[in-house]
Amino acid sequence: MKPLRFKNDTGEFTIQQPENISSLYFPLASEVGLKSAITPNLGGDSKINQETFLLEPVSVDNLHNNRSTRNFWIRNQDGTVESISGASAQQEADKFTDNQEDSQLTAGLMWQKLDRQLSRLNLKVETTTFIPREDNVEIMQISVTNTADVAQELTAYAAIPIFGRSADNIRDHRNVTSMLHRIKTTKTGIEVCPTMSFDERGHQLNQEIYYVLGFDEDGNTPQEFYPTVESFIGEGGSFIHPRAVYQSYEGVSSDNQIDGREAMGAFRFDNFTLSAGESKRFTILLGIDRNEDSIKSIGEKYSKLGIVQEVLEETKQYWQDKVTVDFKTGDSNFDNYMKWVCFQPFLRRIFGCSFLPHHDYGRGGRGWRDLWQDCLSLLLMEPSQVGHMIVNNFKGVRLDGTNATIIGDGDGNFLADRNGISRVWMDHALWPLITTKLYIDQTGDVDILTKQVSYFKDPHVKRGTTLDEAWNDAYGNEQRSEDGTIYTGSILEHLLIQHLTGFYEVGQHNIYRLRGADWNDALDMANENGESVAFTAAYSGNLMELAALIRLLESQTQTQSVEILEEIGLLLKKDTAIYDNVGRKHQILDAYTNQCLHNVNGRKVTIPLSELALNLIQKATWLRQHLQQEEWIDLNEEEGWYNSYYDDNGRPTDGDYNGRIHMMLTGQVFPIMNFVATDKQIQKITRSADHYLYRKEIGGYRLNTDFKEIKSDLGRMFGFAYGEKENGAVFSHMTVMYANALYRRGFAKEGWKALKTLADTSLDFETSHIFPGIPEYFRADGRGVYHYLTGAASWYMLTMVTEVFGVQGRAGDLVLHPKLLAEQFDENGKASITTQFSGKTFQIIYDNPNHKGFGDYVITSAECNGIELSITDDSYAFLSKEKLAKLNSESHQINITLQ
Ligand code: G1P
Repeated sequence: MKPLRFKNDTGEFTIQQPENISSLYFPLASEVGLKSAITPNLGGDSKINQETFLLEPVSVDNLHNNRSTRNFWIRNQDGTVESISGASAQQEADKFTDNQEDSQLTAGLMWQKLDRQLSRLNLKVETTTFIPREDNVEIMQISVTNTADVAQELTAYAAIPIFGRSADNIRDHRNVTSMLHRIKTTKTGIEVCPTMSFDERGHQLNQEIYYVLGFDEDGNTPQEFYPTVESFIGEGGSFIHPRAVYQSYEGVSSDNQIDGREAMGAFRFDNFTLSAGESKRFTILLGIDRNEDSIKSIGEKYSKLGIVQEVLEETKQYWQDKVTVDFKTGDSNFDNYMKWVCFQPFLRRIFGCSFLPHHDYGRGGRGWRDLWQDCLSLLLMEPSQVGHMIVNNFKGVRLDGTNATIIGDGDGNFLADRNGISRVWMDHALWPLITTKLYIDQTGDVDILTKQVSYFKDPHVKRGTTLDEAWNDAYGNEQRSEDGTIYTGSILEHLLIQHLTGFYEVGQHNIYRLRGADWNDALDMANENGESVAFTAAYSGNLMELAALIRLLESQTQTQSVEILEEIGLLLKKDTAIYDNVGRKHQILDAYTNQCLHNVNGRKVTIPLSELALNLIQKATWLRQHLQQEEWIDLNEEEGWYNSYYDDNGRPTDGDYNGRIHMMLTGQVFPIMNFVATDKQIQKITRSADHYLYRKEIGGYRLNTDFKEIKSDLGRMFGFAYGEKENGAVFSHMTVMYANALYRRGFAKEGWKALKTLADTSLDFETSHIFPGIPEYFRADGRGVYHYLTGAASWYMLTMVTEVFGVQGRAGDLVLHPKLLAEQFDENGKASITTQFSGKTFQIIYDNPNHKGFGDYVITSAECNGIELSITDDSYAFLSKEKLAKLNSESHQINITLQ
C-alpha cells in the first residue's frame, strides 16, 4: 500500500505513522491574521506577524528538537500517562519498536486530523485542528474513546506553552521578555498579556493577549491551572515528562495572577469515567486578541460542540470553494495533486515567504515578484479584484525604472528603504508586464494601460547608484513634479520606463547587467560586471509583447497617440546604431536618470502609438539577433544551449570547460519562452537538458550542473552544497517555467515531461517526504523542501490551464487550443477542466475518442450549451468577448471533439 493515499477527489489524503517522517508540517490559517504550522505530533508554531507569536517560532530543525508542542495528556487511576500526540518520553522511546502505537493523519485544505491508539491506556483518540476563517483562534477538538471492555476513570490535561512575544526574542532578550509577562488564570483558561513588546520598533506598550482556553463537551471548564512552565513541568521535569501530570501536582485555581515567568496554557479537567466504548470530547482554543471581552465571546461560542462542528464544516467548504479550478485527467492522483497546487497561491498570500518552518527569508513582508505572481493565479481563480490590485501595484515603480522593495500592508502601499543600501534586482521590471498582459488577455480591458498612477519615490535614485539627499519624510513616497504636485503617468508609461531603462543598462558584452541579482536571488556577487543573458532574452520578449499591447490599444480604442513624460524621449532615440554601442547606451541612461533625480518637470509629449510600437520592436529584434549570434553555444551536432550569465570577471557561465559541462537551466528557459531560440535550437537544448540536468528520481530538471567551484565572482549559490537550493537543486519554479516555455513553442511532450516528473516526485512520498503539493525545490536526495510557499504553484497552475488544457484569453476572447498528450485522457478518451473566464464558470470537456496525441488531433467540433462554436483554420475553438457577455453568470459546459 502506498504510504500516502487520497481519499476522494477533494485533495483529502491520509498517511499512517506520520511521526516516523521528519520535517513534516501542515499550514492552517484564518483570513484575519492567525497563521499556524502544525506537525504530526502537534508541534509547529502559531502567529499573527513577526512581533506576535502565540507559540514559540520554529524553523525546520526545531521540529524534532522542540518538545514545546500543543499537548494534551491523559492519566488513568493507576498513574499511567500518555500524550494524545505521542509527545511523551515513553511514546518517543517506543517509536520504531514493536510497541509503537498506531497513528494516522488525515488532512484537507486547512484542517488536519490525527488518530492515535493509546495502547497503554486502551484509548482511541482523535484530534482535529483548524482555524475558522474569520477568527484568530486555533481550535483543537479531541475525542477520547475507551477501547477497554471495562469502565475507566481518567484525568485530562491540556498543555500548550505560550510564547507570547516577538520572534526576535527567540534568543535576544528571551529571558528578559518573560519578565514582561502578566499571566492570569480565568474560569476558562489562561491569558497572557505582556506589559511591553521589545522589538525593532523599540519598547512598545503591548495590548495583545495570548490565551489558551478549554472546555469539555458539556461546556465544563478546567478545575485547576498550571500557568507557568515551571509549575507545569516541575523542577527537573520536561515537556515530555511533566511532573504536574505524572505526579499529579496540584495547580492553582482560577482568578490567579502570576507575573514575570515563561507562560503555560496548561490546566486539568475534572476526572471523568468512560464506560467501555464510550467517548468524551474536549475543545481547546488557542488564540490572540486585544480585547478580553472578545476572548470571552470566542470562548462562549466555541464551547458549544455543535458550533465547532458547524464551523469546521464551513471552513472545509470555504477553502474548497476558493479553489475554483478543477482538473479531470486519466490520473486521479494527479488531479488531487492539482487541488493542492492550486491552493498554494492562497497560502503564499497568507504566509508570505516567512511563516512556515522552512522560512525562506524576511519578517513577513512580501517581495515584488510575489506581488505580481499572486495576481497571476488570482486572475484564474478570483479575477474580480485583480484589475484594482494591478493598478495599485504600479505605484511601486520609480521613475528610473527600478521599484520599491519594501511592501507594506494593503494594495499599493510601498515603503521607503531607509538603510541607504539599495539593491536592484534586474528581473523586477519583467513581472508587471507579464501579469498585465495576462490580465488584458483574460478580460479584454486594454484600457487599463491608460489609467493614471503615481510613481514611487524614496532616496534611491539613478537605479540604486546614488541617493537623493533632498528627499525626506515630508516629501512622501510619491514622486512630485517641480510645482510640488504628485506626478502621475499612465500604466503604459510605467511599463515603458521599466523596459526602456533596462535596455540601456548593459555590461561589457552588451547584455543587461545582473546588478544585485535576477530571479535567482543567490546570484548576488557580481554587481559590477555580472550580466544576465537569461533575463536579457526575457526582456526581448517583453519588448515585443509591449509593442503588441500598444498595437492592441490602438486598434481597440481608436487611439492614435499617447502622452508621455518628456524625458522618456531620451530613451526612444531612433538611431539604431546606438544599440551596438555600450558607451552610448550608458550616456543615454545617465542623461535620463539625471533628469529625474528629485522632481520631474512634469511636461508631457505626444507620441503616436505606432511609432512607439515600432521603436520597441526594433529594440527587441536587435536583442534577439544579438543573443542568437553571441550567446548560443553549439556543442556538437546533437547538443547546444544558451549561455546564461557573465560573472564579475566577465566570463561566461555556460559551456564546456575542459570536459566539465556547465549548463544552467535559467539561460534556456527565457530564450525558449521568448522566441530567441529557434525550433532547431530548442531540440538541441532539450537533448542537452535531458543529458546534463535531468534526474527523474529527484524531480527532473536541475537548475544547473555542478560547477565544482565556489564562484565568489557570481553569487552565494556556489557556496551551497551542490544539489541544494539555487545550486543545482530541482528548483520547481524554474522547471515549471521551462515547461511553460516549451509548451508555448509547441513542444508539449517535452513540457509535460518536466511537469509530470515534478508531480510524480512530489507524490512519491517515500522520496519527497512531503504532503501533496509542489515544494520550492527537491534536494539532491529527492526530499521536497520549503514546502507550500513557492511561486512555482502559480506557474504550474497557469501552465496547466493556459497551455496543457489550452484555455487562453486573447484580448478578452476565449480561445481553446489543448496541448494534451494521449496519456492525459482517461480510458474513455476524455479530459476536462473547470475554470473561470469572464466572470463565468466553464466546464470544458475534451473528447478524444481515438486516443490521439497532441499534433495528431485537430478540433473537429465545439459547442457551448449546445450552440456551435467557431473553429479557426489552425484548429482553435473560440468564443468572442461579445458572445461571452451574453452568457448568464451560471456555469456553462463546452464540449470539444478532437479527431
Ligand atoms: C524564492 C524566492 C524568490 C526567488 C526564488 C529564486 O522563490 O522567494 O524571490 O526568485 O526563490 O531564488 P520561489 O521561486 O520558490 O517562489
